[in-house]
Amino acid sequence: MKVILSGDHAGMTLRNEVKDLLEEMHIAYEDTGCSCETSVDYPDYALPAAQRVASGEFDRGILICGTGIGMSIAANKVKGIRCALVHDVYSAKLTRQHNDSNMLAMGERVIGPGLAREIAKTWLETAFDGGRHERRLNKLTAYEENR
Ligand code: RB5
Repeated sequence: MKVILSGDHAGMTLRNEVKDLLEEMHIAYEDTGCSCETSVDYPDYALPAAQRVASGEFDRGILICGTGIGMSIAANKVKGIRCALVHDVYSAKLTRQHNDSNMLAMGERVIGPGLAREIAKTWLETAFDGGRHERRLNKLTAYEENR
């Protein structure tokens, strides 16, 4: 699995925590987030990362900002992206099993590093259930294709 990681200035500490986790899990990743000496705009980081997941260059993406909200809104504008904003472990598991989310967003101002690690680990390790959930995702894809 190849993961793209990105984030703005408000998510830098949590992004470093996720980087440590990816290294511990021996998952290949590229960090395209800001170096963050100054304040930046989250769409400038979320949109290119989402495009690189949508194109198939990366299997999954993890986005971090202050709340996770801006990054998730931006990522979900990109065709083919199912970005889940997650701040609990149960949702991390279910969004993989039911939504086949290909991007995860978290907020550094919302949760601490320990929980963020658990969420990211669960999200990375959980497979899509398929079945009836596939049918539902197909409806989203059809909507995207036809608008
Ligand atoms: C930056 O201050 C903050 O607005 C951003 O990181 C994010 O939380 C937006 O949704």
